[in-house]
Amino acid sequence: MIGKLNHVAIAVPDLEAAAAIYRDTLGANVSEPVELPEHGVITIFVELPNTKIELLHPMGDASPIAKFLQSNPSGGMHHICYEVEDIEAAATKMQESGARVLGNGRPKIGAHNKPVLFLHPKDFCGTLVELEQA
Ligand code: CO
Repeated sequence: MIGKLNHVAIAVPDLEAAAAIYRDTLGANVSEPVELPEHGVITIFVELPNTKIELLHPMGDASPIAKFLQSNPSGGMHHICYEVEDIEAAATKMQESGARVLGNGRPKIGAHNKPVLFLHPKDFCGTLVELEQA
């Protein structure tokens, strides 16, 4: 069912320092910061030839990333995103499989204006998984 790896998201305590590591030390193309207040994050996109890395920094106290950084003060991998062709079919398959979909179990519009689901890490090898209809 899953297709391409769309992105890997890394939560970071210092967005500019993280951008410098990817731009200067690793030599990648790095975007300007993009504010996504409705998702409680500021994001920098790192474009790689075959996928993207998203550097996530909290925006606002209610940000889900703020809580993550409390447990992981130096940052860490937050989630991994796989593409699916049909998000409704994916939601149904997760329900049938007994895998937990976060929130109300239905797709919502994600940070890239595409429908997404987030899956419980305990059901997926300890990794928060995002499914995005590409
Ligand atoms: Co994501």
